[in-house]
Amino acid sequence: MSRVAVLKGGSSLERQVSLRSGARVEDALERLGHDVEAVDVGADLIERLRQGRPDVAFVAMHGRDGEDGTVQELLEILGIPYTGSGVVACARTIDKVVTKHLCVEADIPTAPFFSFNQTAFDRLGAADTLPAIEERLGFPMVVKPASGGSALGVKFARAARDVPGALVAAFSYDDRVLLERYVAGRDLAVAVVEGADGPVPLPIVEAVPRDEDFYDFEARYEIGRTDFVCPADLPGETTERAHEIALATYRLLGLEAFGRIDLMLEEGTGDLYVLEANAIPGLTETSLVPQAAEAGGLDFDRLVARILALAFERGPRAAAPA
Ligand SMILES: Nc1ncnc2c1ncn2[C@@H]1O[C@H](COP(=O)(O)OP(=O)(O)O)[C@@H](O)[C@H]1O
Ligand SMILES: [Mg+2]
Repeated sequence: MSRVAVLKGGSSLERQVSLRSGARVEDALERLGHDVEAVDVGADLIERLRQGRPDVAFVAMHGRDGEDGTVQELLEILGIPYTGSGVVACARTIDKVVTKHLCVEADIPTAPFFSFNQTAFDRLGAADTLPAIEERLGFPMVVKPASGGSALGVKFARAARDVPGALVAAFSYDDRVLLERYVAGRDLAVAVVEGADGPVPLPIVEAVPRDEDFYDFEARYEIGRTDFVCPADLPGETTERAHEIALATYRLLGLEAFGRIDLMLEEGTGDLYVLEANAIPGLTETSLVPQAAEAGGLDFDRLVARILALAFERGPRAAAPA
């Protein structure tokens, strides 16, 4: 039995999802016989960790504060081992622009894109480059904040007149935005979990929209408006390729213990494109990684046990030895 602090919540926009992931993880840890302390991450974080003296921290946070390396840096200073990816992998994955640049360098397919930050937009005339961007990416075009999740701030621009509004919306989430070629096709997610012999891709989950308003992705991700199919009904060769691309992306980004790679499978061409990688994907009742694990024969408690065991195996980490 170990003392496990479950870190959840925080100030991110995905706070509610994180609270649900955390609660489900706590239940599993209790069933596994651990002594669990739930920590809603806030100003008293350090004090609580110093008092509680956990053997390990299970980080069940999404988005800012937790999936971006923030609490991981603090846990390293305190010398507390923690679950999942380290600081730099979190930093690489929280920012879709960084992830996409790394994919391009490594010849991993990702949809063509451009990006700029708020300074470029407000003070350096980036808006004047929009016609050139539009010409190269075409319409519809996807506009999204560089960091975000749960489709927050993801907008589709059908024509040039939609782009400024989409940019303003995306800038309300992050000071860097991404303009990306729209890939018409199927929305796939590949969960990766590390087994005894390294990372293993799990059965693929496909998100199938229920209604036709496929431009409104924020609404689409509301509960009940999307069906999830696992394993996705795909030709064996496509599954294999998606698995290969997901594993290559997982390794490229330096993810650890588990993660989820989101892909688009293009209609017509059959080409696959990496959209993003998630260092701490959702772990709720309706989340994709638990569904994929279940389909792969790993029930939720065993998934949690596996992630915890990996944190112990690795032990406390430090960016550089003092
Ligand atoms: N370039 C694109 N082409 C088509 N659909 C996209 C594209 N980018 C995003 N989407 C849709 O929006 C969803 C959310 O985008 P994603 O980049 O994964 O961000 P988030 O961090 O919000 O999950 C995707 O699962 C996909 O359905
Ligand atoms: Mg995604």
